[in-house]
Amino acid sequence: MRTFVYTSHPSRVVFGAGTAGRLGEEVERLGCSRVLLLSSGPLAAASAKVRQELGGLVAAEFDGAVMHTPVEVTEQALGVLREASVDGIVAVGGGSTTGLSKALALRTGLPQVILPTTYAGSEVTPVLGETRDGRKVTQSSPAILPETVVYDVDFTLTLPLSLTVTSGVNALAHAVEALYSADADPVTDQQALDAIARIGRALPRLAADPADLEARADLLHAAWLAGTCLAAVGMGLHHKLCHTLGGGFDLPHAETHTVVLPHAMAYNAPAAPGVMRRIADALGVPDAPSGVHDLVASLGGPTSLRDLGMAESDLASAAQAAASTPYPNPREVTAEGIAEVLAGAWHGCRPAGPPSTEAELARLTEQVVASFAQAPEARVRTLLGDLVRHLHAFVAANDVTDAEWRHAIDFLTRTGEICGPTRQEFVLLSDTLGVSSAVDLLTNSRTPHTTPSAVLGPFYTEGPPDTPRGGDISGGLPGTPLWVDVRVADTGGAPVADAVVDVWQSDEDGFYDVQLPELAGPVLRGRLRTDAEGRIRFWSILPSEYPIPGDGPVGQMLKATGRHPFRAPHLHFMIDAPGHRRLVTQLFVSGGAYLDSDTVFGVKDELVVDFTPQSGPTPDGRPVDGEWRRLDYRFRLAPLAG
Ligand code: BEZ
Ligand code: FE
Repeated sequence: MRTFVYTSHPSRVVFGAGTAGRLGEEVERLGCSRVLLLSSGPLAAASAKVRQELGGLVAAEFDGAVMHTPVEVTEQALGVLREASVDGIVAVGGGSTTGLSKALALRTGLPQVILPTTYAGSEVTPVLGETRDGRKVTQSSPAILPETVVYDVDFTLTLPLSLTVTSGVNALAHAVEALYSADADPVTDQQALDAIARIGRALPRLAADPADLEARADLLHAAWLAGTCLAAVGMGLHHKLCHTLGGGFDLPHAETHTVVLPHAMAYNAPAAPGVMRRIADALGVPDAPSGVHDLVASLGGPTSLRDLGMAESDLASAAQAAASTPYPNPREVTAEGIAEVLAGAWHGCRPAGPPSTEAELARLTEQVVASFAQAPEARVRTLLGDLVRHLHAFVAANDVTDAEWRHAIDFLTRTGEICGPTRQEFVLLSDTLGVSSAVDLLTNSRTPHTTPSAVLGPFYTEGPPDTPRGGDISGGLPGTPLWVDVRVADTGGAPVADAVVDVWQSDEDGFYDVQLPELAGPVLRGRLRTDAEGRIRFWSILPSEYPIPGDGPVGQMLKATGRHPFRAPHLHFMIDAPGHRRLVTQLFVSGGAYLDSDTVFGVKDELVVDFTPQSGPTPDGRPVDGEWRRLDYRFRLAPLAG
């Protein structure tokens, strides 16, 4: 059984994108009608937006918030506040603006609404650190806790990547130290682990695309959770060191957190192995301290106190200052221990993780992912980085051997070698692994109310022969005659005239013309244009099931795994019309073979249609002895986006 004490610090949190639009409502909810708007110089654009949202509720403004909350600045702001007889405070900005707001609230008792633009988390704590005569004094009081926090993800989209990283790691530090705090409780544990996981996944995404809204939301959500932990439980060695370095050596706050955290964690790791394991799991790394170091390094964040401008000669006095007062920490804090932590942080060494293969592999993966960081296109960075992560994870999860990997490379080499103008083995591979259908599913799911698409396959050829309306694409090949009468419409049902419709199919034996060198030219393929009713009609033959080519690596794969090579009988269509999205699809013969085990996973229920048996006169009077079939269908095309 776990014994614990849990204290919550009540504040109202409004979270989302565009939530600044609710500031006025939130101010009025606190009974205020004349607020002081606080910000700092660099946040002019953000405070202008807030001013616009608040309109007549703003009675005065002060944009002079600075780091470390000096009391002289607070006095100036207090003058503005009193002169305008305000009844509430709205602060937009990072830790400095929040600090000023808290200092004013402590002196006046006025309610506060904070809109944070960084990940500092202090907006949800009842703690205020002020500087008086160069000394930082920290106090805690319910009067300091802001009443309302409005998190608006839109206000974080333009935070530069370097600040995003350091501010995000500042939040990470709150969560990490909450987990091994002597005051930790089940609520803060959950909040801290959730925050760590969000930070671990959001930061790399933001490095690829700093305006990724979902990643921004994850990080801001994490900042709130980590701030809540900071409010609820005491912090340890890491915070003490950062406090000392910030106050006594004038090092920048968030950057110092970023450099020191992996080293403080490495120091505490032997005393909190369970916590470190949970942090490592939340981050998806084998070892927590080195994992944090690698994360920061891969994001281009600062890793050494030297780079932050600290003189090596200051290390001894910093260690002495940090060791001078006792404070709770999972591992006993000694002067030598602190000196060791500071030396590691000053040099920027990677904290030694356990010498495991996993750790090395994780480092290798991150190194490869980071190698794409300079690629100019964000999408390229994301796709290549993620591909590498998945490939490395696949190799690791299956313990792939050297011989197996050489076999795989040989397989791919042969797949490439067999490709040519009429043979596309990579398409076959993608199709038989279901990847083409997966991509197709995702694409098609974005266009409801339209005909589902289906894989293109390897047998399409550019520029098929023009076929007149009512013409015959069978080239005289044997088979059951098929009359095709299809219409092309838009999502509203209106006919789409002049659409270019390419059709292609296999012969009665299941071969495409490109597989039959004895054929003189293209057969069983054609290009038609829809008439004013959006209609095309032509003769062909009933398609039959067929095996995909089995004489290459893909055929070997199917044989080796006991899979049959057959496709269900179908007719291919590719439809292009101005103002509409191209539709690539297939119509399958209902009742045909292999409908439920198509080897390329291409069958969709809506595409299985009747190729209705007929006898007697044909629609265009063509004489046909015996059975013929007819296919009637209406395609619905999606409009072009935007
Ligand atoms: C086809 O339908 O032409 C096809 C599709 C995928 C793989 C092989 C053939
Ligand atoms: Fe086909």
